[in-house]
Amino acid sequence: MPLVTSTEMFKKAYNGGYAIGAFNVNNMEIVQAITEACKEEHAPVILQVSKGARAYANHTYLVKLVEAAVIECPEIPIVLHLDHGPDFETCKACIDGGFTSVMIDASSKPFKENIEITKKVVEYAHAHGVVVEAELGTLAGIEDEVKVAHGAESYTRPEEVEEFVGSTGCDSLAIAIGTSHGAYKFTAAQCTRNEEGVLVPPPLRFDVLKEVEKRLPGFPIVLHGSSSVPQEYVKMINENGGAMPDAVGIPESQLREAARSSVCKINIDSDLRLAMTGSIRKFFNEHPDKFDPREYLKPARANIKELVRHKLVDVLGCSGKA
Ligand code: G3H
Ligand code: 13P
Ligand code: ZN
Repeated sequence: MPLVTSTEMFKKAYNGGYAIGAFNVNNMEIVQAITEACKEEHAPVILQVSKGARAYANHTYLVKLVEAAVIECPEIPIVLHLDHGPDFETCKACIDGGFTSVMIDASSKPFKENIEITKKVVEYAHAHGVVVEAELGTLAGIEDEVKVAHGAESYTRPEEVEEFVGSTGCDSLAIAIGTSHGAYKFTAAQCTRNEEGVLVPPPLRFDVLKEVEKRLPGFPIVLHGSSSVPQEYVKMINENGGAMPDAVGIPESQLREAARSSVCKINIDSDLRLAMTGSIRKFFNEHPDKFDPREYLKPARANIKELVRHKLVDVLGCSGKA
């Protein structure tokens, strides 16, 4: 089947109590790893491209890689989505250039300005059969050029969501309930430590999610910054020349709980990066004489694939839903 929008996917996910995985893609190996896992698990998927990915790999290369995945995986629905679109022009370029979904992220702007920009994108997108994700509230962490310091993040205010969605006509809404971008989601001061000395982050604000849900019944909610930062890969990186102390993510049990609610899309990027980096570091440590990129990218791709499979089956609950 050709690329699809997320409309049907979200309806089924909402009613079925699961979420769709939205994975960031930057190169061929990542596209292959994600879509092969989804194909084998019969899972619908959102492949997302950030401003940084477009700058790194080029719009056309990324679109063509995703089109190749569509040909190779005809039995699963695939959405091509712009992640954190910073302005109308970037959203327009993606709408005109083959994407089926865009995010306009004006969450750092004042409420009224966020509404204005989002509305403009929605009007253009809907006229071209493309759906729009918008955001209210800000996450801590690093996303492209936007860096939000720990402590400067703000939870979504549930009392604003009806006006925002009603005025903009957006198709899904990203909210801030305590997730955070990157591999260092929380400072040590924000966490406690378990018996192994690993940081345990503060729990997600399910009370905020429930309040949003009450005000927007049936409306798909999105969670960004939802990597779990698998300690297995942090360890692999640190044992093979890396230095990532106190990297910590969102516990998967909490994401599983979110996926059962109105949360229909869960964004995961950093976990895939950790799997790739850990695998490549380990390979070089074990084979200092090797220099063929195919040899070191192969185990990296295989590990990303298994990580995505785990997310589909154990976290998102979307295995078998294609
Ligand atoms: O939230 C942002 C994603 O992890 C993409 O990151 O802007 O470095 O491509 P990036
Ligand atoms: P992570 O950094 O937690 O993987 O979040 C990715 C994301 O939100 C992409 O938009
Ligand atoms: Zn994000």
